[in-house]
Amino acid sequence: MSINSTSSKIFNRLENILIIGNGGRENSLAWAIQKNELVKKVYLIPGNSGSERINKCERIKIDINNEIELVEKLDFLKIDLIVIGPEIPLANGLADFLRKKDFKVFGPGKDGAKLEYSKSWAKEFMREANIPTANFWKVNSLEEAKNIIHTSPMPLVVKADGLASGKGVFIPDSKDECFRAAELIFNGKFGKSGNSIVLEEKIQGPEVSVFALCDGQKYVLLPTAQDHKRLNEKDKGPNTGGMGAYSPAPLLTEDNLDKITKEIIKPTIDGLNRKNITYKGVIYFGLMITESGAKVIEYNCRFGDPECQTIMPLMDKNFVSLLEKCSMGNLTGDEKISTSDKVSGCVIATSKGYPNEYKTGFPITIGKIDSIDCQIFDSGTATGKNGELLTDGGRVLSIVCQDKDFDMVFERAYKNLKEIKFDGIYFRNDIGHQVRKKLSTEN
Ligand code: AMP
Ligand code: GLY
Repeated sequence: MSINSTSSKIFNRLENILIIGNGGRENSLAWAIQKNELVKKVYLIPGNSGSERINKCERIKIDINNEIELVEKLDFLKIDLIVIGPEIPLANGLADFLRKKDFKVFGPGKDGAKLEYSKSWAKEFMREANIPTANFWKVNSLEEAKNIIHTSPMPLVVKADGLASGKGVFIPDSKDECFRAAELIFNGKFGKSGNSIVLEEKIQGPEVSVFALCDGQKYVLLPTAQDHKRLNEKDKGPNTGGMGAYSPAPLLTEDNLDKITKEIIKPTIDGLNRKNITYKGVIYFGLMITESGAKVIEYNCRFGDPECQTIMPLMDKNFVSLLEKCSMGNLTGDEKISTSDKVSGCVIATSKGYPNEYKTGFPITIGKIDSIDCQIFDSGTATGKNGELLTDGGRVLSIVCQDKDFDMVFERAYKNLKEIKFDGIYFRNDIGHQVRKKLSTEN
């Protein structure tokens, strides 16, 4: 390693930041990170077509799996902090590898990422740590699954154990559908991720996402958020990666959050420590607020998408320092995240057909968008031969607005969204219905 490169890792500098990932989440992280005047450059590997519209941002073409080339490039660029966005590189141990090369990394090692990449491991972890969650059974064969489904008085939720891009969860209405879901998974629909399955008691209640930035021992909480997972209005239709979100979630009062901290967040960090897992990154707690209190539906080892796009505009310029402190194990735990006093809302525009098959390559035109408190974060876009912006994914882009209340937020989000056009554009008109006065009385 060159002398230059080593110096960039030793000094407490925050000049050059690298973000790994190519979604709207990573663009919103870059947008929040570049606000800090210490930051000179934010690199994204690979980013997408929207990345370079963000101040100080540059995309890098390099294969993250080519370890030698990657380290050489990061040394050359004198990268001071690396933020890993998606779950797959985390589950593959990229954070461990980069830490061994002396980089400061925000993102858990392979051991911590197991919270997300093995649902059965996460459920067993919760059982051991006495963390409230739905009852479950881990099963390794269709026969075993059939017995449990058959003897259960209610249809059970069926989940592939491993990563399945958010598609491995089935919520059947009948036992027959449960069998079919289990069969589909064991027949290889999700490859190795379906070698075992988790059957879960179906629980009910509104869902909320809580994010803890962890330094291995201590943590700070970001504003809460609520996502809209279903494709269609009135929360109908198939599950998606997320069609929109709002933050903070008024559903969680300070008292609720204190209880959740005591019963869920702290026991999770303590449980990880008991297993000698030093978790330096964000833990995403997907919670369901049931009649008997908050229960963990899932853990993720990354920021939520689109919750991240929604929360990032509420962060002040010190956000990047918090990530750095986490990467170094230096949080005091008393940090007050200073956020805007506004609220934020995000609407995702998708390609027609998503979350199933869809076409890409349609030109996107963007008219006049508010210049203050309104952001567009590209999720799936590409640049055409003549420099034009093209659709390149199921979720194409998000529009995010901040204002005094949610009615104003979404009025502006939808007004600005009218300025964005592409063939087959689809979005829900009722994002934030729970917190919009007019819509919440209609629903
Ligand atoms: P997951 O990928 O585990 O978050 O599951 C995706 C979605 O399925 C969640 O956001 C919930 O809406 C739903 N879900 C998952 N597990 C359960 C459960 N045990 N009971 C009811 N709904 C669930
Ligand atoms: N918005 C849900 C997720 O990121 O998993």
